[in-house]
Amino acid sequence: MSGPKGLSNGEVPPQGVSQPVSAAPVIDARNLSIRFGDVTAVNDVSFHLDRGELFGFLGPNGSGKTSIIRALCGLIPLSSGQATILGMDVHRHAAEIKRHVGYMSQRFGLYEDLTVQENIRFYAAAYGLSTQALTLRIEQILELTSLGPYFTRRVSQLSGGWKQRLALACAIIHSPEVVFLDEPTAGIDPVARRSLWDLFFELSAQGVTFFVTTHYMDEAERCGRLGYIYLSRLIALGSIDELRRQPEANPPGASRINLEAPSIALLLPRLRRFPGVREATIFGRAVHALVEDSALEPLHAAFPQLSIRNLQPSLEDIFVTLTYHIMKGEQG
Ligand SMILES: Nc1ncnc2c1ncn2[C@@H]1O[C@H](COP(=O)(O)OP(=O)(O)OP(=O)(O)O)[C@@H](O)[C@H]1O
Ligand SMILES: [Mg+2]
Repeated sequence: MSGPKGLSNGEVPPQGVSQPVSAAPVIDARNLSIRFGDVTAVNDVSFHLDRGELFGFLGPNGSGKTSIIRALCGLIPLSSGQATILGMDVHRHAAEIKRHVGYMSQRFGLYEDLTVQENIRFYAAAYGLSTQALTLRIEQILELTSLGPYFTRRVSQLSGGWKQRLALACAIIHSPEVVFLDEPTAGIDPVARRSLWDLFFELSAQGVTFFVTTHYMDEAERCGRLGYIYLSRLIALGSIDELRRQPEANPPGASRINLEAPSIALLLPRLRRFPGVREATIFGRAVHALVEDSALEPLHAAFPQLSIRNLQPSLEDIFVTLTYHIMKGEQG
């Protein structure tokens, strides 16, 4: 490990933050399993993230996303497996890692009765920032998050989007190299979401590594790489193009098609029952379907009013298909 590194806007971070060996992954998770009594929350999950990556982590409710983040942040123990952050073991070096990691939890604890400034100062103190370091850092963080005009406002008087910005400001006040964001944009409007993502990109361009969970497909599409966890297992990992090419996402002998017709929604139940139609769902004024190739002609014949064209699978299509694939495997 080498010496201190400037992270945000050229600032030298507090307390001698050290830089990882450049080629080593920033997060290296190997065969992680997490159990709570009889519940296996995470089952044999492995992945690694490089410096400056913006990694999106998706999966249904209860699939193990938050558990992985909590374990990587040293808040809960791993039942088995190993993980390092910046080369440090998450179990043995938990205290040291906390200085290098920012964590915005799913229900981030802002103090509603305190002002924006007081919340930032509270978290800065919790991270042990000196008064001098904080004075410098507050300037940067206000510029980065545009929170300046709200600095003296009570949190209870902020809208959801601004609260999320403040939560992010608090989570990164100590200039962490690695940031875990657990559903950072849940429930906020598209414009506020976009500007938060702009912020993530700004930081990731400066070398900060992001691990972000989301249920929003448009957000997933912005990530350089993605992981999809289902029933505690990581069932997809890679860039969007890599996921598109996965054999499970492109079942042989079947095509993804876009079907259009007036009042298409009324046709949906019949389309779903049609032999050879494996998946069908409404997308705006069209239906996206995964259809066995042998069913294409009969489909044309049965529904002459449909206009049909081939379709690239969307991320949602890929995840749904992968999920069905696993469900079918489980049912034997
Ligand atoms: N402290 C705990 N004690 C017992 N079980 C837990 C605990 N924390 C999580 N679990 C269980 O572990 C599983 C994974 O939960 P986790 O919170 O990691 O899911 P998630 O993917 O983050 O879900 P969501 O999208 O709803 O946030 C669930 O079955 C959950 O009930
Ligand atoms: Mg969660």
